[in-house]
Amino acid sequence: MSKQILVTGGTGYIGSHTVVELQNEGFDVVIVDDLSNSNIDVLDAIEKITGKRPAFEKFNLADREKTNVFFEQYKNIDAVIHFAAYKAVGESVQKPLEYYRNNLVSLMNLLENMKKHRVSNLVFSSSCTVYGQPDQLPVTESTPRKPAESPYGNTKAVSEDIMRDFSHANEGINCIALRYFNPIGAHPSALIGEFPVGVPNNLVPFITQTAAGLRDELKIFGADYDTPDGTAIRDYINVVDLAKAHVVSINRLLENKQQSSYEFFNVGTGNGYSVMQLVKTFIKVNGVDVKYQITDRRAGDIEKIWADTTLANEELGWEAEKTLEETLESAWAWEKKVRNIK
Ligand code: UFG
Repeated sequence: MSKQILVTGGTGYIGSHTVVELQNEGFDVVIVDDLSNSNIDVLDAIEKITGKRPAFEKFNLADREKTNVFFEQYKNIDAVIHFAAYKAVGESVQKPLEYYRNNLVSLMNLLENMKKHRVSNLVFSSSCTVYGQPDQLPVTESTPRKPAESPYGNTKAVSEDIMRDFSHANEGINCIALRYFNPIGAHPSALIGEFPVGVPNNLVPFITQTAAGLRDELKIFGADYDTPDGTAIRDYINVVDLAKAHVVSINRLLENKQQSSYEFFNVGTGNGYSVMQLVKTFIKVNGVDVKYQITDRRAGDIEKIWADTTLANEELGWEAEKTLEETLESAWAWEKKVRNIK
């Protein structure tokens, strides 16, 4: 019988791509999502890509009672991937309690039910935000964490601590935190992708919306950083590659291959690109114009970060496969599909 995976936040950007990869590998998926930042139509798209419609339940996992009822109903879950969380850095500064409540209580409700129902395995969406501005680059998993710059970032650090402490206290609970660098791009089918509500905060959706004519121009936040061209550097990871990192993590847990009950891995490409390089590559590979202007730095941004991915390469047997070029092509193909641009 195929293994059943609970994917929270499975209609969201990274969640939907992961559901596709799980189903392609023969897993049964049940999604829990409150649809607060995603659309139910994603289920149709997943079905179109994989030929299979995942089970779906709509509720917020910070609701303890509803989470308890869910676990009473779904008795055959083998593992959980927990994506469901609020993720806007700026908003988290304005609404810290919402962020702490939603992101931390949902994790605690899940862990409590996993223990009760003997569900052993959890893969969690963490972030390179836990490293802050590292003293040395690239960052390895031994690079020390730094105090969070935002309540959002702090929810990731505290979630990691909760999983570490809970898995140590409870034999049979095993957790893997994946520290994502900057996920971008879309599924090659252009049937799923990133669909931000309102004005995008992140770079690539802002670029694709500018290319599509929804925004007048991209603001490049700062060109006076200590980097070769003065713009900030990130490690941009293709969302399908990232989704596959979840599948290998699930297999590692199901096959009991982990070295300890709580593990964490960097999930990036190992390459840093500047904002300017990214914008220019997008323009070049897609043959479209993107107007841009250099403005002041954005508060809270770090200067540069990219991953050392040796641990994920060696332990998980995973590595990023897609090039930046094909990833930026996929991002534009998705935006065109959404906006009906030929
Ligand atoms: N940028 C611009 N213009 C924009 C948007 C972004 O110049 O309109 C720049 C940013 O200043 C930054 C780079 O593009 O230098 C990437 O910005 P994103 O907002 O796409 O991504 P961040 O690296 O700021 O944020 C990501 C995740 C967060 C996480 C953070 C940790 O989206 O969830 O990394 O550093 F907290």
